Amino acid sequence: MVVSVANGANLPGGATSVSLRALYDDKSVYVLAQWADKTQSYRRAPWQKQADGTWKKLSDPNDLGGDSNLVYEDKLALLWNINDSIKSFNQVGCLVTCHPGETKPFGNKYTAADGELGDIWHWKSVRTGPVGNVDDQYLDNTRYDKDKAPEAGRKSDAKTSGGYSDNQTADKKLPAFALPDNKPAPPYWLLDSEKVAFDNSKYQPGDEVPSIIIAPMTGDRGDISSAQLWRDGIWTVELSRKLDTGSKTDIQFTDLKKSYYFGVAVFDNAQVRHAWNSGALKLTFSPAASSGLTTVKALPANHAGRTTCKVCHEAGAAGAPKFPTTVNHALFEDNNKFCGTCHR
Ligand code: HEC
Ligand code: HEC
Repeated sequence: MVVSVANGANLPGGATSVSLRALYDDKSVYVLAQWADKTQSYRRAPWQKQADGTWKKLSDPNDLGGDSNLVYEDKLALLWNINDSIKSFNQVGCLVTCHPGETKPFGNKYTAADGELGDIWHWKSVRTGPVGNVDDQYLDNTRYDKDKAPEAGRKSDAKTSGGYSDNQTADKKLPAFALPDNKPAPPYWLLDSEKVAFDNSKYQPGDEVPSIIIAPMTGDRGDISSAQLWRDGIWTVELSRKLDTGSKTDIQFTDLKKSYYFGVAVFDNAQVRHAWNSGALKLTFSPAASSGLTTVKALPANHAGRTTCKVCHEAGAAGAPKFPTTVNHALFEDNNKFCGTCHR
């Protein structure tokens, strides 16, 4: 399905459209999302060395609190209605959980009553994607409270290890760790497994260092895997998860005859100002026999030693069969090894 999303920060006119596809096997469900976003945003609040030798964590000067739209990251979120518990969600969509204002620039998110639960699949291109994770979160009816619940109903699933944390010294004046060999950013994330002690003498004014340390999450919060690619103004993100995780804060696809309702949102270099779809979207499971895909053909023997492929197959030159319209081959890398992942 192709879904229009609107009212987000930074996107042209606040809008883009998201193409969504899904597959399943006996254990897992897979979602492929693609959307146009001209810029890959990954410079998420980095540390920057100043001319006087001090370090500054960059921020959005217009941010009134948790609302950066300048030095942030790209994200995608799906919100699912767990056990159809959120009243009116299946007709209205995410909007029933959206509460504009309430002392915040972009409002709060929570459900109306106790027992109304949503499952949030929150892919973050800097904080979770590089380690193959989606932030598995949930939504309940907690109301906004400045001290006790600044994020209102938005909660994180329980985790046993991993995740992301700020890269800073105790006094928050410097980064505590650095990229291997104390190289400046990019990348704008620091793998926990590769971080080294920060050595200030290695940097010139203007150099940047990631402000976030990341590691793969295990436990409930790490239930969803991801793979990501930004190329030529298009994000391609694949998510996958077990059909049944056993967690109360997850949607469970245990009845393949049922419909599952959800909404989708895209964040373009935005902390909270997401472009969202209006209305509810529906996932249904087709019986395996009607999927309609043909078998993937093996490379002919006369192809041994060929390195690039698109020169013939894109336009159907030299009698070569053209790429199918069913699977978008434009996004695939043009080399024997990559094509061979499917065409063995
Ligand atoms: C010089 C042009 C040319 C290049 C380069 C080329 N192919 Fe082909 N390919 C063909 C032709 C022509 C056929 C038709 C069958 C044959 O010749 O055996 C074909 C057939 C195929 C088929 C089988 C389709 C079928 O219907 O059975 C696959 C899969 C394929 N190519 C993939 C690739 C991959 C992957 C690469 C890159 C490593 C590649 N091709 C490079 C010309 C080319
Ligand atoms: C993710 C798996 C995947 C990758 C990677 C992939 N393909 Fe395919 N390809 C398919 C599938 C599936 C089909 C058949 C689709 C259909 O029949 O509806 C197909 C069909 C084709 C065909 C048409 C063959 C025919 O049936 O006549 C050609 C040619 C081809 N691919 C070449 C390539 C080349 C070249 C690459 C690398 C640039 C590549 N493919 C990478 C999955 C893949």
